[in-house]
Parts: sequence; structure tokens; C-alpha cells
Amino acid sequence: MARDGALYVCQSCGSVQPKWSGQCPACSAWNTLIEESGARPPGALAPSRSHKARGLAFQGLDVQTPSPPRVATGVAEFDRVCGGGVVPGSAILLAGDPGVGKSTLLLQVCAQAARGGAACAYISGEEAAEQIRARAHRLGLGDAPVKLAAETSLREITDGLKRDAFDLVVIDSVQTLWSEAHEAGPGSVTQVRACAAELVRLAKKRGVAIILVGHVTKDGQIAGPRVVEHLVDAVLAFEGERGYPFRILRGVKNRFGATDEIGVFEMSDLGLTEVKNPSALFLNQGGERAAGAAVFAGMEGSRPVLVEVQALVAPSVYGTPRRAVVGWDSGRLAMVMAVLEARCGLGFAARDVYLNVAGGLRISEPAADLAAAAALASSALNTALPQDAVVFGEISLSGDVRPVSRMETRLKEAAKLGFTRALGPLQADGAGVKVSGVARLADAVAKIGDQAFG
Ligand code: TYD
Ligand code: MG
Repeated sequence: MARDGALYVCQSCGSVQPKWSGQCPACSAWNTLIEESGARPPGALAPSRSHKARGLAFQGLDVQTPSPPRVATGVAEFDRVCGGGVVPGSAILLAGDPGVGKSTLLLQVCAQAARGGAACAYISGEEAAEQIRARAHRLGLGDAPVKLAAETSLREITDGLKRDAFDLVVIDSVQTLWSEAHEAGPGSVTQVRACAAELVRLAKKRGVAIILVGHVTKDGQIAGPRVVEHLVDAVLAFEGERGYPFRILRGVKNRFGATDEIGVFEMSDLGLTEVKNPSALFLNQGGERAAGAAVFAGMEGSRPVLVEVQALVAPSVYGTPRRAVVGWDSGRLAMVMAVLEARCGLGFAARDVYLNVAGGLRISEPAADLAAAAALASSALNTALPQDAVVFGEISLSGDVRPVSRMETRLKEAAKLGFTRALGPLQADGAGVKVSGVARLADAVAKIGDQAFG
């Protein structure tokens, strides 16, 4: 029974309901409605404080505004994803699975920035100061002038930040914060939203860059709060496959820069080390390339990345053959397989198909179509692709191979890593690499089958 005045907030989508129910009427999630006092129904206004409106002062578009100043933290991969350093007065959300390395990354960012002369604070609600200090010493950052605090009370944090002037403040994590203005528990939508909003306001007012850590829930949303995503200026996702040392920092939203940049790190005993040349890392170098492997010349943001795409096509022992894919879109795999069947006569009917992107990288470019198709064809025909060849190109449903963006950059990166041949769209050109251009997927499959490209 709903008590008078009690409201129920969905912890998944943030909708406010007057009655409790097992399933959220707004997003259909189960068991997510929690009673929260202080919640307001949508559209309800806060109790009004009377003040006189001043009226809007409009401005033109033709006024020169200098680009925002930036504080380079000194962790180059992090700075690049931010768009060239953090912007004073901005709020950034760093989201990732528990244990992926968010605290480690931000401690390193803080310490490097502090060594570079920025005033930095690291406030943790998850670990005690001793723990953080011990980690900093282990990472060789014990001498960095970072101010540490272990605190979860929003009031204490905001008071502290008003007293001292900082350039960069890390708050780990937004789910541990609580504000006494709300009765809901830490981690609830109301608390997370209220605390994040207050900190974003403070960042703007004091001109300090604030980085909030947010844990991600199982289904990939930032726990409790998609609500935080729209409050902040930038959302960075920190990703990594279990069992791989590589971590990828990806811009998801950025009001001050491009969102398709990635930063690549490697987790070791000494914390996260920046990977300056990701291609060398994602390639299975040295070893013979077996049938079913194709090197994709991809782009991640402004950077070319070479990565091995591996496929295995094997007779199926079950009635329904298996299709499993890691690091690529399963819908896209189904499409490429359908085109291979319909236009190139390669059958997958009674065969299991596995596709894997090496190194734990996730690729989303359409340019990977031809690399995946080449890997599948190579496995199905049991012929290895040439050792020194890269593959890229988009495939259309009609079986055409289409040109993709930045072909010259892709080829240059391939040349840099010792590749001399490429299988790609007709329009691809040079850069010291001999391109075998194909107009149709069937031509590419024929070339692979005859081991005759390049
Ligand atoms: P952490 O930064 O605490 O993750 P998060 O804040 O995202 O929850 O890092 C957790 C993992 O990283 C932990 O399992 C141990 C590993 N790790 C290393 O392998 N090397 C290191 O130097 C550090 C600090 C952590
Ligand atoms: Mg942590």
C-alpha cells in the first residue's frame, strides 16, 4: 500500500511512480521500484522561492569565443580521449565494470597531473586513505603532491572543495556519495542524481575539473543512473575483457571533443601503462597466420589500428548450428554470412561458425565486413591468407565491396607494420602497399580460394 506522499522511483530508468509495483510501468524492469522520500513526480516544480526574473539576454553566433583552456594531465592516452586534456569547470563521468581499473587509472592521472603542477585531489568513498596511499607507493607515485581524502558525505566534500582551490578533483565513486538533503540510501537514483548535480554545479562555479567514477551494472548501464550521463560534459567508458591485460578508454559523450577516440592501456603489476602503438599489440605477430585469420586495417577515432579477426567454420554436431561472436556485432556476422551464401556460394548450413577479434578489442566499423568475410572464407576453404596482407572494406547486401573512410591512413599503418599487400575496395590506393582491389565479394572469395591476390 502506498503511504500518503510516498513516491517510488525506478532504480533503472529513474521514472517516478505514485504506487509500488513489481514491474516498472515505464521501462518494464522488474523489482526496481524503491520508495524514496523527497522524490518529485515528473513535471512537479520545486517549492518556489520568489525572485524577480531579469529576462533573457540574447547573444549572436558571430562572436569569437576562444576554445576552452585545457589541463593536460600527462597521461597522454587519457588526454587524447578527453579531447586534449581536461577542461576546467567541466564534469567527466568515468564508467566501467567493477575491477576494470578505474581507481588505478584515475590515481595515475591525478598523480601525473599533480607532478605537472596542477592542484589535484583524490576523494574516495570506497577505500581508506591508507589503501590508496599503499597503492600509490606500489605504482611508484608516492612522491606526487596529491591531496587524499576518504569521504562519502557530499556536504563534507563540497565544503572541502570550496575551501581549497583545485584544478582537478577525482571522486570515486558517485554511488558511494550521500547527501543529507535526501533520505534515500547511497547508490539510489535520487542520491546519485542529487550528488552528481551538486558536484557538476560546483565544478562550473569554481572552475575545477571533476571526474566522477561510476560503476556499470550488468546490462551495461551506469548503475542507477543513466541520469548522470546527461548531467556531465563527458562520459568515458573504461572497458576490458576478462583475462586480457588490455584496457580501452572510449569517449562516449564529449561536449569538448570528438567521441570516437580511444586510449589503450595495458594492466600490469605496475598499474596501467600506455600503449602507444596498439596495432603491434593486437596483432599476433611472429607466428604463422593460420587459415581463418585475417588482419583488419581498422580505424579507432583518428588512429589506425590493425587487429586480427579469427574465424572458425566447423561441421556442426547439433541440429541447429552454433554462431558465436566475440568483439563484433552478431547481427553483422549474420549479414556477412548471408551475403557469402547468397552471392558467393559458400554454405554455412550444417556448420558452426565462430568469430573472434583478437586481443579483446571490440570493433564496430562497417569497414570490418570484408575482413570478417575473408576470415570466414579462408576458414571455410581452408586456405590461409598471405602473411603480409591486410583486409578492409564494407560489404553491401548485393555483394558489392564499398570504399570506406581514411583508406590511405589504414594503408600507411599497414606499411609501417611491415605489411606489403592489401585486399580492399577498388578505390583504395597505394602508400607503398600493393592493393588488390575487388568490386564484389565473390571476387575476393575467388582470390582467397586461388591464393592469388597481391
Ligand atoms: P581498480 O582500479 O581497483 O578497479 P576499479 O576501481 O575499476 O574497481 O583495479 C582493480 C584490479 O586491477 C584488481 O583486480 C587488481 C588489478 N591491478 C593490477 O593488476 N595491477 C595494479 O597495479 C593495480 C593497482 C591493480
Ligand atoms: Mg575502484
